[in-house]
Amino acid sequence: MNEPFDPRPALEVLRARGVTEPVRLLIVLGTGLIRLEEDIRDAVKVAYADLPGFPATSVSGHPGQLVIGRLHGRRVALMQGRAHYYETGDACAMRGAFAVLKALGCDTIVMTNAAGAIRPDWYPGSMALIADHINITGINPLLGEQGDERFVSMVDAYDPRLRRKLKLAAQASGQQLHEGVYMWFTGPSFETPAEIRMAKLFGADLVGMSTVPEVILARRLGFDVAALSVITNQAAGIGGARPDHGETKTVAISGSVALRRLLGSFVKLLEE
Ligand code: HPA
Repeated sequence: MNEPFDPRPALEVLRARGVTEPVRLLIVLGTGLIRLEEDIRDAVKVAYADLPGFPATSVSGHPGQLVIGRLHGRRVALMQGRAHYYETGDACAMRGAFAVLKALGCDTIVMTNAAGAIRPDWYPGSMALIADHINITGINPLLGEQGDERFVSMVDAYDPRLRRKLKLAAQASGQQLHEGVYMWFTGPSFETPAEIRMAKLFGADLVGMSTVPEVILARRLGFDVAALSVITNQAAGIGGARPDHGETKTVAISGSVALRRLLGSFVKLLEE
C-alpha cells in the first residue's frame, strides 16, 4: 500500500464499456457464490484481466469478473472472485480494485465468503454475519505504509448500521442469520483440529481464508464494510469434521441461493 495507485486506466476501460453512472455498493463474492449475477439487470461484465490494477485469480470457483448493473433498481458492482492472500502472498492484492470502485463513487462494500463453523449448531448451508474478526497471522496489508493514516481504527470495522440492515433483511426474507467472530487463517492448508480448539478458546465462531486483509484495506480507504459467510462445513475436528475444498465449493454453490435472497432483500433496504 506504499505507491499511490492510479485508478484512471481502469476507469477508462469501464467508461468505454458503457459504465457512465456512479455505483454506491460493491459486493465481493466468495468461492462458489456466483449466482447473484443472474439478478443483475443491464449488466456490464468486464474480466479482471482487462482492468488495470484488478487481481489475477487462480482458484476454481472464482472466475475473476466485474459485473456492474442494477440489483432491484440499485446500482451495484459485483466482484466475482477475489484474490486470496494464499494465492500470491500479497495481502494488498485487492487494493487496486477497491481504489477503482472508490473512484466510481462506491462507499460501501459487502464481502461474502465461505467459512467453517466452530459453533456445532451452525450447520452447513446456513449464513452468518461477521461482527468482528481475529487476525493473529502477523500479516497486515498496511505493513510498510507510511504516514499516520496507516493507524486505522478497527473498532466497528464491521459497520453496525449495515449489520442492522442485514439482520432486518434476513427477517424480511424469512432467513436465519447467525452473527459471530471470524478468525482468519491464511490457508491454503485447512486448519488443524488443535488450531480450531485454539480459535474457539480465543472467542472465534467461524474460520476462513479470506476477507480480513480486504476489510483492513477497505477501512483504510474509508469504505463502510459488512461481511457475510456461508457456512460450508464444520471446522476441522468439530464433530470429527475433515474439511476439504470440494465440499466447500459444493455447499457454497447451494448456499448461494440463500445469500442471493438475503442480498436482494438487503439492497431493497438501502437508500439511494
Ligand atoms: N477453514 C478455512 N476456510 C474455510 C473453511 C474452513 O473450514 N471452510 C470454508 N472456507
